[in-house]
Amino acid sequence: MIKNDATLELSKEDMKSYGYKVVDAIVEHFDSQREKLPVAMASRKEMDGIFLEDSPEKPMDPQKVLDFVLEEVMTQSNIVSHPKSYSFVPGPSNYISAMADSLASGFNVFSGGWAASPAAAELEIVTMNWLLKIFGFPVKRGGGIFTSGGSMANLTAIIAARTVKCRDDFSKTVIYLSDQAHSSNIKAIRAAGFVKEQIRIIPTDSEFKFSLNKLKNAIAKDTLEGLQPLCLIATAGTTNTGTVDQLSEIAAICKKENVWFHIDGAYGGAAILAKNGKQLLKGIEKADSITVDPHKWFFQPYEIGCLLVRNHKWLKGTFTEKPEYLRDIEGNTSEINFYDHGIELTRRFRALKFYMSIKTFGLKTFRKAITYNIKLAEETESFLRKSSSWEVISPATLAVINFRYNPIGNQLTEKKLDALNQYISKKVVASQKALLVTTVLNKQIVLRMCLINPRTTLDDVKETLSLCEEFAEAKKPF
Ligand SMILES: Cc1ncc(COP(=O)(O)O)c(C=O)c1O
Repeated sequence: MIKNDATLELSKEDMKSYGYKVVDAIVEHFDSQREKLPVAMASRKEMDGIFLEDSPEKPMDPQKVLDFVLEEVMTQSNIVSHPKSYSFVPGPSNYISAMADSLASGFNVFSGGWAASPAAAELEIVTMNWLLKIFGFPVKRGGGIFTSGGSMANLTAIIAARTVKCRDDFSKTVIYLSDQAHSSNIKAIRAAGFVKEQIRIIPTDSEFKFSLNKLKNAIAKDTLEGLQPLCLIATAGTTNTGTVDQLSEIAAICKKENVWFHIDGAYGGAAILAKNGKQLLKGIEKADSITVDPHKWFFQPYEIGCLLVRNHKWLKGTFTEKPEYLRDIEGNTSEINFYDHGIELTRRFRALKFYMSIKTFGLKTFRKAITYNIKLAEETESFLRKSSSWEVISPATLAVINFRYNPIGNQLTEKKLDALNQYISKKVVASQKALLVTTVLNKQIVLRMCLINPRTTLDDVKETLSLCEEFAEAKKPF
């Protein structure tokens, strides 16, 4: 009789004490993060010094491994949910969803097919319906899928657009996006097999929106040359400035030219829950597909992105494969196998955290939090405008604001101002007291604040700006 003592199990008591310790650590993290420094800094050499070893053959006391991880691993990451974490896109997260993720992992729910976990598939259908409704897509006809993040949602959209519009031969097709579109779109286009010559990057106007005339000209030129405009990617909340492209006008162009209209709402999509956000996002409901990224401004922990499509058949028609060993679990058409709607077969149960957090807090709380974030950025803008030291470069839009240190009366050249603002950011990050990095707008180096954390206060912002001013003043005469 074959015997096995390598079952990778702990006793019930050991599991409990281990688990309680993990929960205690997570609770402590949520409770005390404001008192911690948001920025972690370590060189490869320092990290190697702590962690580098051959894979251990022998077992080790589980508590010791856990202690080591809590002390050395969990302390060496930026705290992206810290109130003074303003870059790049913060990850405010929430405790309920963190626990939901633990449940999903603890039960190791396979969220690929209906037969394997009907409740997981049903929750994905239900939460997808919530999102379809929120974004004004047809709930019955529409569909969607949770992905690992926005990049994967954009990739899923491009592959669906390519398949629905032209099946296998897409060599004569062209994709359009603006110079403010997120880099994941270019990555997705390249990963989907398009070459450089098939990508049109359209310049933006003074407000960082698609230049519509240039877009129309580019489409006309391509059509004249016998190319097929395939897909247009607009952005609802650019990462740099929070700008929303002219969605209704672009929808009309896409309709006229028979072009797939994809909207990357990974950053700003969630703003639809706020009154003024909804106003700004008008026209989003006219898209063929929308990327939303719940692990950003829907306050979910990593990883959960989402693609919504106007017609669920587009996903099924693009991604269905029928291997022999999955024959028995195909089910009926109303019982969705999400592995047929996207790239992944084995998928974690992402819908659970979205479901549990919205059930627990209510959509109303999410609306309030997002409304607060938009207002906080606006108040930051008025504060900056009243100061003689700061210049607002792009106004508060969907909780993003860009500015630079440029005190009235200084004689600095543009080059020196760039260097000074880069210096401020470097010093702030090196102090570890705030995560505030730069971006480039109109060839100027500027500081960018993304204020989507509902626990960030105006006082946090003012303290951070004072810190910036201290570093700048200490550098005088610049
Ligand atoms: C507008 C936009 N699209 C796509 C992405 C990529 O999303 P993810 O990092 O979840 O893959 C981001 C990330 O910041 C983004 O801001």
